Amino acid sequence: MVRSELRWTRRDALERGMASFAALCLLPAATKTAAIRSAAAADPYQVDLQLPPTLVPVSSTATADRYELAIREGRAEIIPGQLTPVYGYDGIYPGPTIRARKGRTTVVRVTNGLSFQQNIHLHGGLVPAASDGHPMQLIEPGGAFEYTYPNVQDAATLWYHDHAHGLSARTMFYGLAGFYIVEDEVAPDLPAGDFDVPLVIQDRAFNADGSLRYTENIDEGFMGDTIVVNGSVSPRFAVKRALYRLRFLNASNARAYELRLSNGDPLVQVAGDGGLLEAPVSRSSIPLAPAERVDVVVDFRRLAAGAQVQLVNGLGTGSTPSVLRFDVTGTRADSGRVPATLRPREEIPAPVATRRWELMFSTTGAPRWEMSGLGFEMDRIDARARLGTTERWLWVNNSHRPHPMHIHGAHFRVLDRSEGSVHAGDRAWKDTVMVAVGETVIVQPRFAPYAGRYVFHCHNLEHQERAMMLQVEVTA
Ligand code: C2O
Ligand code: CU
Ligand code: CU
Repeated sequence: MVRSELRWTRRDALERGMASFAALCLLPAATKTAAIRSAAAADPYQVDLQLPPTLVPVSSTATADRYELAIREGRAEIIPGQLTPVYGYDGIYPGPTIRARKGRTTVVRVTNGLSFQQNIHLHGGLVPAASDGHPMQLIEPGGAFEYTYPNVQDAATLWYHDHAHGLSARTMFYGLAGFYIVEDEVAPDLPAGDFDVPLVIQDRAFNADGSLRYTENIDEGFMGDTIVVNGSVSPRFAVKRALYRLRFLNASNARAYELRLSNGDPLVQVAGDGGLLEAPVSRSSIPLAPAERVDVVVDFRRLAAGAQVQLVNGLGTGSTPSVLRFDVTGTRADSGRVPATLRPREEIPAPVATRRWELMFSTTGAPRWEMSGLGFEMDRIDARARLGTTERWLWVNNSHRPHPMHIHGAHFRVLDRSEGSVHAGDRAWKDTVMVAVGETVIVQPRFAPYAGRYVFHCHNLEHQERAMMLQVEVTA
């Protein structure tokens, strides 16, 4: 049995974090300049899309797959022809994809090869609190920890990332994120294999030498001028004349996107954060807040060989509208179909409590983000919920910035938006929801299937680190 070196720490993670980053010479400390024009930006569509490798188990039993993952420094060709220092899972950026099966347990033994504390959080995973990667549950440098993911939830596009308190805005910026895809038996006709493509979208900025350039911006969050998909600057993707399932993840620190195809073709959404929708929804464009996922099916069958279709970010300006280009090749392939219905809606109990969280910016003392006047306190529980119940949570945004709100240890339904209605694409289980400026969004979290202490927070990483994160204790 591996000795667990994961422990709860009460020291000031923020102070410690800054010191260890400064000590690390490979990655420069944050630039304090206001301008974040990349000195080494590249033109879009110069390189082919890369797919992160799928992690191979080191052993498997009848009920479980066991993996090993090393957090360490590495180099990645993000800009064509240049090697950029990164932090990577197994040294690569983005990290390898873990494919899990509903009902089979995944065990990941993680070793921390960096010079500061780390952990791993499975975003969207319903996992026991001990394996959740709470921001104060950390792996020491040189240490290891075994995370156990029971995969009791429906098939969904999840992701894993660092959650070390005070550090994760930087460590995620420098590369620490990867896909974790849960599969099950439902809707087997959807495109699979080569036609099931995970796409992680992030914005970045670079120095002239190709190194990543982080600029701390507590107010807006980090905004880069270069869009990177699966670790390459706005790549091109050679597609067959077939149906493709594209799994979009926004793993940017703070940037929101509005995705659409340049030829006006629809994106047929089949899944959201928590998995399949009840039925497919055809959308001309899809908003994607930080940490959200949407799975869409795109039909390239009726396009001519040689056609080029861009995936455009409608919220982009300057160099940030160009996300990805699909280059249609001559080959036709039968890759499946989109069923008329996908997954029946689950009955859930009525809410037993209502809580109101006011999203606000505080300028008394050091500027920071808060929920109802509270910032993260390791020793304070901010909400107590009963295992198996649902509640009504109101996110009330009285601040001047949007906030992508996320809950650990629970999935939720979006019940109501004060600005407009809840889109059909947001009606299945979710774990992250955007709350626009001036808006109130009401969600219904279900605290199941595990008891324990979980955090909930804004997924604008600069907001989360300063200190827009609270804790819910779920008791049996
Ligand atoms: Cu991506 Cu606390 O989560
Ligand atoms: Cu999470
Ligand atoms: Cu926020």
